[in-house]
Amino acid sequence: MKMRVKMSLMCFMVLIMATQVTSFVGITWGRQQTQQLVPSMVVDLLLQNKIPQLRLMTSGYDIIEIFSGTNISLSVTMGNQFVWQANRNDLAYVWVNDRIKDPINKGVNIVEVTVGSEPFSNTFLKEANNNQVVPVLKLIRETLDDMKLGHIRATTGHGMDVLKVSKFPSEADFRDDIKKPMLESLEEFNRTGVPFVLYMFPIHFVKEIMNYTMEFAFMDNKSGFKIVDGNITYTNAVELMIDSLAWALKKAGYPDMKIMIGQIGWPTDGYPHANIKNAERFHKGLLKYVSSKKGTPLRPGPLDIYLHSLSDENEFRTIFGTFQRHWGIYRADGNPKYKIDFSLQDRDEYPTEAKGIVKMPNRWCKFNGDTSNMYLVNKNYDLACKTADCTRLEKGASCDGLKFESRISYAFNAFFQKYKQSLEKCDFDGLGKIVATNPSVENCEFPIEILAFQDQIVQNGMVLRI
Ligand SMILES: *[C@@H]1O[C@H](CO)[C@@H](O)[C@H](O)[C@H]1NC(C)=O
Ligand SMILES: *[C@@H]1O[C@H](CO)[C@@H](O)[C@H](O)[C@H]1NC(C)=O
Ligand SMILES: *[C@@H]1O[C@H](CO)[C@@H](O)[C@H](O)[C@H]1NC(C)=O
Ligand SMILES: *[C@@H]1O[C@H](CO)[C@@H](O)[C@H](O)[C@H]1NC(C)=O
Ligand SMILES: *[C@@H]1O[C@H](CO)[C@@H](O)[C@H](O)[C@H]1NC(C)=O
Repeated sequence: MKMRVKMSLMCFMVLIMATQVTSFVGITWGRQQTQQLVPSMVVDLLLQNKIPQLRLMTSGYDIIEIFSGTNISLSVTMGNQFVWQANRNDLAYVWVNDRIKDPINKGVNIVEVTVGSEPFSNTFLKEANNNQVVPVLKLIRETLDDMKLGHIRATTGHGMDVLKVSKFPSEADFRDDIKKPMLESLEEFNRTGVPFVLYMFPIHFVKEIMNYTMEFAFMDNKSGFKIVDGNITYTNAVELMIDSLAWALKKAGYPDMKIMIGQIGWPTDGYPHANIKNAERFHKGLLKYVSSKKGTPLRPGPLDIYLHSLSDENEFRTIFGTFQRHWGIYRADGNPKYKIDFSLQDRDEYPTEAKGIVKMPNRWCKFNGDTSNMYLVNKNYDLACKTADCTRLEKGASCDGLKFESRISYAFNAFFQKYKQSLEKCDFDGLGKIVATNPSVENCEFPIEILAFQDQIVQNGMVLRI
């Protein structure tokens, strides 16, 4: 009798382990914004929407600790600035102790450390010192093992630009200039049994890199556009991108290395085709595809993905494109931008909104319309946009169509809100005025700031983050 209970318990456990092999859909969250969602609200948001995994694009321990007791699996990112200086046992020890071990002792479910963000990129991080990442990756691995944290994966993130540009997946290979550190990296992933983490942005790949029809970026197979590679036909960019990487891995000697999608998404502004309608359509197709568990021609089976991203980041660097600030599935105020079903049941519903967000009062800063001194007008416009986020005014973005006066107003308001509606920040040499009626028009929203959880640390005009 006892034996039988034990047997069925074992069967049950095997069953649980088997179901864990299926795919998951997590989400990323970065904090390079003036309007920072309160972490406890983010925890609530993830729990309400049953999102099991969070890829935190930072390692601030005040943020990590809030996930204590939640059972949300956390991937913690070691920022590039730190990677470039962390190649020392003592520094690595302190970092792992503070950001990983300590929170785990407090009940945070950390499953992964991402050492650097796209260190091998040649578009996103031109200044990247990619020779540093492999030694630091190994050092963090050793440090984790020393601290009896062997179960935590140590890995790094890669953009699609680690590959040479090629039309057919079967022609794909890693860039020549990074081959050496890349091979070392792959050896380490293989040795420690971690997946290759790919960050992929189909809108950029399809339009900017390949110049294909935008339809190819969607997964609902409506375009008729296809790429035929030998006996395989690709009808969407996502499968083509994954299989390109699969080919490159195969050529490097790792035909079976698991591929995990560390970031995938669709921005809603700052770029042609980057809008809410397309983002909703993209995610609908993507999640249907993920839930089918059919995988790609070369990598059939379930796929683990992290959607990018939870909220917009209006201070994210824009060297790659201004759309980089508009990846959020949620607006800065915690409201979802579009319908998306995180539970993979393809329901046509908005996800749960964040509760308890407190907005600043309904006040906007506008240009008073005085154009008698254009030098002053232009000077103040430049000042505002240099500091605040004006990416919605870019070509093809949602506020691109504004008339001259409204463009100035948009910039003034962005600046005023960034400084928490401080009255003197709407002066602009006498050209600004505060109004209580919302100047937003159609698709172009003049945002209001939310009350922040923590004040930013600003030094020499640079926003510092831990
Ligand atoms: C914690 O999460 C794992 C998978 O992420 C799940 O299998 C387990 O049931 C969860 N435990 C609790 C107590 O919710
Ligand atoms: C490492 O790569 C070799 C060769 O492809 C493979 O046989 C082995 O299973 C891999 N190890 C892991 C942990 O994936
Ligand atoms: C992109 O493709 C279109 C037509 O498909 C062509 O007219 C255009 O010149 C191409 N642009 C670039 C930069 O190659
Ligand atoms: C896409 O549609 C075509 C017909 O238009 C069909 O032959 C093909 O199998 C479809 N591909 C996928 C991946 O559903
Ligand atoms: C496709 O081609 C490859 C070799 O290029 C071959 O190994 C494979 O069996 C072919 N698959 C089918 C379904 O014909």
